[in-house]
Amino acid sequence: MAKITVIGAGNVGAECARQLASKNLGEIVLLDIVEGIPQGKALDMMQSGPVCGFDSNIVGTNDYKDTKNSDLVIITAGLARKPGMSRDDLLAKNAEIIKSCVKGAVKESPNCILLLVTNPLDAMVYLALKTSGFPSKRVLGMAPLLDASRMATFLAMELNISRREVKAMVLGTHGDLMVPIPRLTTAAGKPITELLSKEKIEAIVKRTAQGGAEIVKHLKTGSAYYAPGACSAYMAEAIIKDKKESILTCAYVEGKYGLNDIYIGVPAVLGKGGVEEIVELELTAEEKAALQKSAASIRKNIEKLIK
Ligand code: NAI
Ligand code: 2OP
Repeated sequence: MAKITVIGAGNVGAECARQLASKNLGEIVLLDIVEGIPQGKALDMMQSGPVCGFDSNIVGTNDYKDTKNSDLVIITAGLARKPGMSRDDLLAKNAEIIKSCVKGAVKESPNCILLLVTNPLDAMVYLALKTSGFPSKRVLGMAPLLDASRMATFLAMELNISRREVKAMVLGTHGDLMVPIPRLTTAAGKPITELLSKEKIEAIVKRTAQGGAEIVKHLKTGSAYYAPGACSAYMAEAIIKDKKESILTCAYVEGKYGLNDIYIGVPAVLGKGGVEEIVELELTAEEKAALQKSAASIRKNIEKLIK
């Protein structure tokens, strides 16, 4: 039976653990630095099992020993944005948290896969790679799937069709310079460029790039967590079930897309080995330039971390 640890029992971590449990993916360990929170939330989730129809065991803890031999460790620990804050404002504080979480996790589960969620995402995944010493295929991040999920939602609302009929393509950083690609985004199999005006598409692209901030503005005390939790659990399922599904992932890119030594959003085949393949799409000159600009913004953060 698979064992999945979720570090950080806050909004995203708890929602992710709940989704993992409802998928019956195996044993779930929920760890946080605050005493009582993971224990209380784990027990509460377990008690939803009889009516929600799952039997997954969920353990709440403050002790990394309980995470021993996890197959997958999902890291959501860290500070979330408040109104007016950018994801990059979180860089220094979350870097310290990530280092300590990665060290704690890797000591108990040297063969695990690390799935990062904490922001600023692309830099945190890079830091987790360096801190863990793992091969890059076993360290990945969740965000481009969330950005694409947001874009698909806005498009479905505009086109008045099922959200599941929309396949959105978003590459690049999880930030203002993300790279939504309307040319490769389809609704019921048709490119959206054939279905909507240039102005409408531009407005949706802009709303997608601001999708996280839009929610922060509403919530005031934190950032989004239902869709982030769901997207993290979706990626976890692909890994644990060895699905070999191509999923938009913050993955290590070396040599593809004209990029080197960087974590950035690209389609990647996920399976039991983690990132099993990076899918390289044919991009136009304009799309390539946008991706390079996106990569440059990630590199700036990495340089602040790794001196
Ligand atoms: P939250 O504040 O609700 O939860 C964070 C949890 O981390 C808290 O329970 C806190 O006690 C815990 N924590 C702090 N330091 C810790 C440590 N050293 N060890 C273990 N636990 C520790 O925040 P939320 O909303 O869950 O967000 C978590 C992170 O995920 C933030 O950095 C946020 O920006 C990021 N995020 C990333 C997304 C993505 O697409 N990659 C989407 C949504 C959020
Ligand atoms: C989001 O996009 C804050 O990164 C988080 O909602």
